[in-house]
Amino acid sequence: MSIERVFVAGAGLMGHGIAQVHAVIGKEVTLYEPDLARAEAGLTRIAGNLDRSVAKGRITADDRDTTLARLTGTADLAHAADADLVIEAVFEDVDVKTALWSAIDAIAPAGAVFASNTSSIAIDRLAAAVGEGRRARFLGMHFFSPVPVMPLIELIRGAATDDATEAAIRGLAADLGKQVIVSADRPGFIVNRILVPFLAEAMRTYEEGVGTAEDIDTGAKVGLAHPMGPLELADFIGLDVCLGIMNVLHEGFGQPQFEPPAVLRRLVAEGHLGQKTGRGFHAYPR
Ligand code: CAA
Repeated sequence: MSIERVFVAGAGLMGHGIAQVHAVIGKEVTLYEPDLARAEAGLTRIAGNLDRSVAKGRITADDRDTTLARLTGTADLAHAADADLVIEAVFEDVDVKTALWSAIDAIAPAGAVFASNTSSIAIDRLAAAVGEGRRARFLGMHFFSPVPVMPLIELIRGAATDDATEAAIRGLAADLGKQVIVSADRPGFIVNRILVPFLAEAMRTYEEGVGTAEDIDTGAKVGLAHPMGPLELADFIGLDVCLGIMNVLHEGFGQPQFEPPAVLRRLVAEGHLGQKTGRGFHAYPR
């Protein structure tokens, strides 16, 4: 199972990073968004990341240009027709994801591997959107943000995923310089199962007025040596994404530690989604 052409659906925080790391290791990458301007915005972010790497002397200007030449933006799903691997990194909503997988199933080659970057939704629920013959090559490939920096991939096998598919993704992960952990197909898998109660409790601590957002984050950074505080991290992930993940975990387990705090619901309802909108638990002047 050779993977040379990668089709990435979704050019947001995760999708653009996933496209970038594959192009860096020599894959031909198509970055898809239904709106071409959003695909192009993803390519612009990648160019900015690579420019930073050139400025820091990590890569040459030639490396940057060669990498960018391997990337194409598209708004046409038909470009999945020659993909060896399709990675889906669209909004964390089961209906959005299943509709997309079903459309891609009708286009991609029979032998292509299908990988979802879902951060919480059961792989078998997503795999049900594709034909039965395809499910052996369907799995979860969960990256962490910022994708070029975080060296972890969570690999989740569905009930039908075969050994050859797992081996192909393990080989690719090694080429990407990422370490693999394997999770059973449970809501939130391993990392978000651990992370979400921490983020939710920090939000409740804030909501109850126990401390300011700054002091809660400083507590985790200085007292626990975390690189970011939990409220800052939630803003970075996106509060809408955090809410989506918490809902999946809360529905899946029914336990109070996964229940989305009222302050999170309120911020999302008001359109304050964190870094990407300029305001969440903290303000991000533009
Ligand atoms: N894209 C690419 N590279 C980036 C980047 C980005 N968005 N942000 C930072 N970097 C790079 C920088 O270029 C820098 O590289 P060098 O050291 O080689 O120069 C390096 O990361 C460190 O960056 P900075 O010095 O600017 O900043 P920092 O030391 O504060 O680190 C950070 C930034 C890496 C984001 C760090 O704060 C961190 O590790 N935060 C926690 C991130 C985390 O927990 N991610 C997981 C989120 S959960 C998730 O993704 C899963 C999910 O399903 C929700």
